[in-house]
Amino acid sequence: NAIMVKVVTCTAPVNIAVIKYWGKRNAALILPTNDSLSVTLSQDILHSKTTIAASPDFSHDRLWLNGKEEDITKNKRMHNCFRETRALRKQLEDSSAEPLEPLSTYPVHVCSENNFPTAAGLASSASGLAALVFTLARLFDLPTSTSDLSRIARQGSGSACRSLFGGFVAWEMGSRDDGADSLAVQVAPETHWPELQALICVVDDAKKGTSSTEGMQNTVATSPLLQHRIRDVVPERMRDMKKAILDRDFQTFAEITMRDSNQFHAVCLDTFPPIFYLNDVSRAIIRLIHEYNATSPDGRLKAAYTYDAGPNAVIYAPKQNMKEIIHLITRYFPGADFVDPYNFFPEGEVVGSNL
Ligand code: PMV
Repeated sequence: NAIMVKVVTCTAPVNIAVIKYWGKRNAALILPTNDSLSVTLSQDILHSKTTIAASPDFSHDRLWLNGKEEDITKNKRMHNCFRETRALRKQLEDSSAEPLEPLSTYPVHVCSENNFPTAAGLASSASGLAALVFTLARLFDLPTSTSDLSRIARQGSGSACRSLFGGFVAWEMGSRDDGADSLAVQVAPETHWPELQALICVVDDAKKGTSSTEGMQNTVATSPLLQHRIRDVVPERMRDMKKAILDRDFQTFAEITMRDSNQFHAVCLDTFPPIFYLNDVSRAIIRLIHEYNATSPDGRLKAAYTYDAGPNAVIYAPKQNMKEIIHLITRYFPGADFVDPYNFFPEGEVVGSNL
């Protein structure tokens, strides 16, 4: 008897939000308290690559992360993704005219790795969980649309739902209690605004601080500023940001991006006890970008910073300004060491380290 093993490999990119997701209204289903919007970065520079094998001869589901086996028995979020994709596969098997391989009943072995140093302190959960769900969908030959897959990835890690699409992506919070309308939609494809580039400045490559899960939970429970943000700030920003992207209006894009990053970190400070993600170098980069923007002869913004749940800066700017920005950062932070592993500079994104 031949041993049946089916193997599929896929990659998924990293996304960096310009309107931040911070807060869950339902922790089990990962339903957010506000809409969010992100830019998906080029897969050439940063991605998660996942290989999944399914076989009736495997004894149970297993995961290897960057070459090391992880215990996933208590990993609810991964099991959410397995359960949802297997249920869709089962439907397919039950409704098919010809008999299909009963893949929905086979245990899987998952191997996932990032092509960027995990030590870089960059969030890898979004690309990792997006790669998991996309690879499962391919393994099971699911005819499911990308937005429907994003709904499953959302239950792996909230921000992962946005990594199913390239370009500019909105996560619509939805209004239903079952999460059926909480999914990602593409606002514009990656080809829409090729002049826009992202520079990643690795300020601190250690993984520490408050996890996003725990941080959000405490913010929702204690921050009055979050309630104001949800009600009075994000809806208007979502409308203005979508328009700015469609118009390739960097001025509006940059202003909203910086204001939203600042409000996210203000909401962290408003949490009790407070959460600090930025450090002195992060704040110095914020000041530097504002001073750089102040030198603009026509008063138009030349760059925008944004920070997630950590001290590392992501700087969005039109391609023509990137060289100047890198020179500026290296002048003010002489230890700055930019790593350009793919030799794409000045065309591609540049990962900087040891600022
Ligand atoms: O999806 P999570 O739990 O890793 O949360 C991500 C939260 C932020 O990165 C801070 C913001 C965002 O929208 O990506």
